Amino acid sequence: MKHEEWVRTLEDTRVVPVITIESGDQAIDLADALVAGNLPLMEITFRSEAAAEAIRRVRAERPEVTVGAGTVLTPAQVDAALEAGAQFLVTPGFNPTVVDYCLKLGVPMAPGVATPSEIEWALERGLSLLKFFPAEQSGGVKYIKAISAPYRGVRFMPTGGITPENLQSYLSVPSIIACGGSWMVKLSLIQAGEFDTITRLAEEAVELARSV
Ligand code: 3PG
Repeated sequence: MKHEEWVRTLEDTRVVPVITIESGDQAIDLADALVAGNLPLMEITFRSEAAAEAIRRVRAERPEVTVGAGTVLTPAQVDAALEAGAQFLVTPGFNPTVVDYCLKLGVPMAPGVATPSEIEWALERGLSLLKFFPAEQSGGVKYIKAISAPYRGVRFMPTGGITPENLQSYLSVPSIIACGGSWMVKLSLIQAGEFDTITRLAEEAVELARSV
């Protein structure tokens, strides 16, 4: 996937399910639940052993879903994610080693930032699509508005503490392209097999995003 294509996907859905998953089978059920909720997008995090396998299964069996890797912390995880078929990569922080490796490979990626200095490290490398993490805990909408002012053209994807209650206030900020979150794909819902609830929460998130 080209960077511009990923940007268009984010502009379109405006919501990114951030997923921790324990098996490839769960990933397929989850992909189906998200598609049914009009949210054919998954950021599968390397917070579990099953991440690469989950990415591989969804890419192979549900090609209509856009699948990326999250919580990518090392070049080895970049390799594992890409080998599994990840279409984009997201990191929680700004690790120059990981970011420069992704840039060398030319893979669409958003590094995590939370301060002006980190934003400038990204800009210096030509990156202008940035994860903002942890959003709510760092000062939320007010902080993002303030931090956006000096950096025209930077687009943020906040995650951390986003819920159906505050989603629209984030999406109303012009510099925010989309919001990430785990609220509609909680591990407890996946483990309990509550895929109808996941579909309903995904649908609700998409509706909320569309009515901003
Ligand atoms: C992430 O890595 O994007 C966050 O952990 C998601 O945060 P949330 O669980 O508060 O939505």
